[in-house]
Amino acid sequence: MNQAVSTQAPLAPQTVHLKDYQPPAFLINQVELNFKLEPSATLVTSLLHLQRNPAHPDGRAPLVLDGQQLKLLSVEVDGQPLAASDYQVTENHLTLPQPPAEFVLQTQVEIDPANNTALEGLYLSSGNFCTQCEAEGFRRITYYLDRPDVLARFTTRIEADKEAFPVLLSNGNPTEKGELDKGKHYVIWEDPFPKPCYLFALVGGDLHPVKDSYTTSSGRKVALEIWVEKENLHKCDHALESLKKAMRWDEDTYGREYDLDIYMIVAVNDFNMGAMENKGLNIFNSACVLADPKSETDMAFHRVESVVAHEYFHNWSGNRVTCRDWFQLSLKEGFTVFRDQQFSADQHSPAVERIQHVALLRTAQFAEDASPTAHPVRPDSYIEINNFYTLTVYEKGSEVVRMLSELVGWDTFRKGSDLYFERFDGQAVTVEDFVNCMAEVSGLNLDQFLIWYSQAGTPQVKAEGRYDAEQKTFTLTLKQETPPTPGQKDKQPLLIPIKMGLVSRTGHPLPLEIDGEFHGTETVLQLNKAEQSFTFHHLESEPLPSLLRGFSAPVKLSYAYSKEDLAFLLQHDPDGFNRWDAGQQLALTTLQELISAQQQGQDLELDPLLINTWKQLLEGQPEDPLMLAELLQLPSEAYIAEQYECVDIDAIHIARDYARKTLATALYPEFLRLYHLYTSDQPWSAEAQQLAARRLKNTCLSFLVVTDAAEALQLAEQQFQQADNMTDQQAALTCLAHAENNQPGDAALQAFARQWARDPLVMDTWFSIQVTRPHPDALDRVKALLEHPAFSMKNPNKVRAVLGAFAGQNRHNFHRRDGAGYQLLANAVIELNKTNPQIASRLVLPLTRFQKLDDFRKGKMKEALERIQQEKLSPDLYEVIQKALV
Ligand code: ARG
Ligand code: ZN
Repeated sequence: MNQAVSTQAPLAPQTVHLKDYQPPAFLINQVELNFKLEPSATLVTSLLHLQRNPAHPDGRAPLVLDGQQLKLLSVEVDGQPLAASDYQVTENHLTLPQPPAEFVLQTQVEIDPANNTALEGLYLSSGNFCTQCEAEGFRRITYYLDRPDVLARFTTRIEADKEAFPVLLSNGNPTEKGELDKGKHYVIWEDPFPKPCYLFALVGGDLHPVKDSYTTSSGRKVALEIWVEKENLHKCDHALESLKKAMRWDEDTYGREYDLDIYMIVAVNDFNMGAMENKGLNIFNSACVLADPKSETDMAFHRVESVVAHEYFHNWSGNRVTCRDWFQLSLKEGFTVFRDQQFSADQHSPAVERIQHVALLRTAQFAEDASPTAHPVRPDSYIEINNFYTLTVYEKGSEVVRMLSELVGWDTFRKGSDLYFERFDGQAVTVEDFVNCMAEVSGLNLDQFLIWYSQAGTPQVKAEGRYDAEQKTFTLTLKQETPPTPGQKDKQPLLIPIKMGLVSRTGHPLPLEIDGEFHGTETVLQLNKAEQSFTFHHLESEPLPSLLRGFSAPVKLSYAYSKEDLAFLLQHDPDGFNRWDAGQQLALTTLQELISAQQQGQDLELDPLLINTWKQLLEGQPEDPLMLAELLQLPSEAYIAEQYECVDIDAIHIARDYARKTLATALYPEFLRLYHLYTSDQPWSAEAQQLAARRLKNTCLSFLVVTDAAEALQLAEQQFQQADNMTDQQAALTCLAHAENNQPGDAALQAFARQWARDPLVMDTWFSIQVTRPHPDALDRVKALLEHPAFSMKNPNKVRAVLGAFAGQNRHNFHRRDGAGYQLLANAVIELNKTNPQIASRLVLPLTRFQKLDDFRKGKMKEALERIQQEKLSPDLYEVIQKALV
């Protein structure tokens, strides 16, 4: 028996290139896995039915299996033990130099789930076994061809102590179970669908189910099960309802039915990401599945609904049709995010859904595009694929699919989607395969459109309008330019769909006539050159253009509107999204004036136009309270920073803070009136009207409290004490804890911690509220919280709640001039590099965003990065830091 123990030393990180793709040398038809679960020494026996791949160019290529941190116990070919000279074991591979053309390979390995802090492969979370295999975690379970284009049928036998691990789950259907000696039991699962190993899952633990069923439109009954720790059984209803809604929606909207007899979701507390779409056995971060109105906010409810739907939709966009290689990640993620956004829009307010997605995209994704880690929706190289589960691949990827759907129209898009699922069912394919389906059904040439997948960066579109009173024409000139990104200096013009209309100065939509053709009152201009002009005819007076409606393309569009124009569009634009955006641009322009004044040492004075515009919004009975709450959000500091080439952290914070206080003071009676109007003593309900009321009321409360009026603080305290739901309780707590005077806030925080000490998800919120406190004591509080008994560096949710929230949402405190914020983050990154490289590599990102900062802060940030660089880095961090410090 050969014994080879992998050591921990990292390989010299290698870059993988899209252009080097080769089909696998071998195919795996059938996999039989056998697990003997023990926390620190799990035995995994694997039988692989292998066969040479005729599509591989070299018919004599060796078999190279991936494997990491595996203790190899034995290797057999067709039942015969191999001599040590017949194979090689290295750090990351098991190689058979001259294998037969078709054979069965048996390996036995030992792994250590209890010490798996990276949370990839098989690990323990709160004493339960669980797995995370995407992207390359399966190689930490057994030797395998760990790549998405190798699809196999899996049979999984799991054996474990019955008392400690009464529930044993894997993909597919349970086919057999039984009792064994010494208090052990076993279960066998069979998954009839061939799948790549990244979709493999296993769970073993003391979990409890909430059960239901769903009948598909063709009449098949599917068992639905959500497995959680006992104390969370009351938090599963919402996920279950969301799952059924998603199943129905995918049948109605995409004609896609579920294909197994059982669909399971398992909640785990320690999880690197949100959730995972393993075939028939989704594993979720508990924060994305558990929801009860007493302990979770409306926002959390929304997140649960959309993540449950997202993972469910993957069953077709990802599982039935999967990715050829990891460069194609957006093929499944961009499409699935698009699908979950469509689903959410159908459940709620489409305009508000769109607003919230766009707000995320054009702060965080645009910032990524402008950073050293900028990459195309389909990257062309990577060192560590986990670094590419990004806003660009997910959110911009979804925008690209959305543009495609707008270009070909929904009915044609649906035909293209049907063709894609039918043609490629059971295959691992590429972005081209998807786009070609759309080209085929629409008859459009989408060659130029494909550039969206390969070109990084945010395109800038400059729009100019000229009205000719004599000719009665309005000419719109559009110029596009994409700034260079690392490794991509020269950019090509993209095909950019600009949805637009013209509005008369009396507030009416105008008919659009271009070159003698009539387009109704709304059209989509196709900008496909560096510069293009469009002339509209028969316009009696100068119109106002309403551009990029619904955010029809992920670009930065500028047009020289006056503030009066923006206030006008805020009232009259027929497009809900553009009304909101006009309000944002108006606030932004006003804030930029304050920022300039602050920089020049002048007194700050808020333009009364903004106050009056808001006053009008607040008066009377709001038509759409949910939308009103969106209109009352001032642009975030991150979004304001996006507008500048050189970012003045302090001036931005001071100006925004001043604007908030000034608006709150000037409009105090209006905010107070609406606060009372939308405060009711009815018990909590999930119903849309109530949800909107909570959101608007709490928005008003946050303005009232920034005035420091005793009455406002009292309202917040009262709401905090009387709330029957977490949305209201948390909103009030945030108001109190973020008030300058920390007395009432600290008292409320203590009471809250006493009430919720036993609920880890609520404690995450408790941490986040404190670290986002906008006052100078924030950093000291973060330091203290890192020592709090409820905090743990081993739990990704806690790391995000404390360090992630501080660096991401408390900008001016994170960017303290003394560099203390940077040092704090660097220390945490150094610690996490040793235990959880994936989380370390995400947490470090704020330190890489120094390009637009002043030299002093730039220096401090680079110092922090250089200190991290001294460590023995995981490939994850190595890749990010090397890109940041070039
Ligand atoms: N495919 C999962 C999703 O639904 C994400 C899992 C990624 N996990 C990872 N460790 N990179 O989006
Ligand atoms: Zn996904």
